[in-house]
Amino acid sequence: MGTAVLVFDARFRLVSINQAGEVMLAHSARHVCGRRVNELVLNAETIMEQITGSLASGRVVNQRSCLLELPDAASLRVNCTFTPMTDTAGNHEVLLELRQIDHHLRVEQEERLITQQQATHELLRGLAHEIKNPLGGLRAAAQLLEREISDTGLKEFTHIIISEADRLQSLLDRMLGPNNLPNIQAVNIHDVLEHVRELVRVEAGERLLIKSDYDPGLPDLQADRDLLLQSVLNIVRNAAQALENDGVITLRTRIQRNFNIGSHKHRLVARIEVIDNGPGIKEELRKQIFYPMITGRSDGTGLGLSIAQAMISRHQGLIECSSQPGKTVFTILLPLDGKHEP
Ligand SMILES: Nc1ncnc2c1ncn2[C@@H]1O[C@H](COP(=O)(O)OP(=O)(O)O)[C@@H](O)[C@H]1O
Ligand SMILES: [Mg+2]
Repeated sequence: MGTAVLVFDARFRLVSINQAGEVMLAHSARHVCGRRVNELVLNAETIMEQITGSLASGRVVNQRSCLLELPDAASLRVNCTFTPMTDTAGNHEVLLELRQIDHHLRVEQEERLITQQQATHELLRGLAHEIKNPLGGLRAAAQLLEREISDTGLKEFTHIIISEADRLQSLLDRMLGPNNLPNIQAVNIHDVLEHVRELVRVEAGERLLIKSDYDPGLPDLQADRDLLLQSVLNIVRNAAQALENDGVITLRTRIQRNFNIGSHKHRLVARIEVIDNGPGIKEELRKQIFYPMITGRSDGTGLGLSIAQAMISRHQGLIECSSQPGKTVFTILLPLDGKHEP
């Protein structure tokens, strides 16, 4: 990403922006020009101060390592340079250059996440194979038994064994089976989120509030609806559990333009956030929660997030997480223009 260049007038209104600036703010020039800086950046105080300072002194001002919180994109850390200028009509303006400093770090972290997801996927696939064979044996044995039994009351039990074995089998096939391509179709992500909201509301009860903040302009995704649903459900359930069914979960969607997932550039990416106001992820778990068998709960399996991640990475997507007490955000990023390979 090159240097973002933004020009503001003395009333803090954006006059012009270059392409790197559009990418950084995740909006087109048409959309942001004419807006005040505090409409573009949530924490605009520092920038406004420096614009005023550089206009008053007529000097170039540098501000290192400034964290920009953007309303519609991930926050980013930048080095800023403010240069006072005068336009052709004699109006005072400030040219602001922004250079992102943690971009490389982020790509590197994402690459690591993707590698880790692939490793998880392989592991789960191996596990699925190990389960599938004995499962087949179990089912066959139950079928034989069913034939030998005349008591209909007992037949009910063999019936449960067989139907549960079938359910497990198809779950394993759908998730990981080598010949089972995901069932890709147009999916409205808001339908999926509403479905999850309903399920978790029923499970959690009255004291859990699940809010929605949807971007109505988000187009349909090309995805496997069941896999997507399961991934979101795993994440929202974790949030409900962390809140002990008492708190607020927000489901938020946004479009992200010209966004990188790992080292892949995407023109359009769907950003799905699950935000909860719970205690946050325990420090000692933070770096490992996406690994299988890592759990912070006595009755946990530690599989929820690794399965969610394996499913999302089958859609060339990524799950990120940031957490502090009072605010935990799980972000699912899914390309809206991606190819779909298993
Ligand atoms: N929203 C959250 N808030 C706090 N901790 C969380 C949250 N989501 C996940 N975790 C932590 O991550 C762990 C792993 O989650 P997961 O992979 O779904 O396994 P499980 O739910 O079976 O423990 C959880 O046990 C919990 O400690
Ligand atoms: Mg879980």
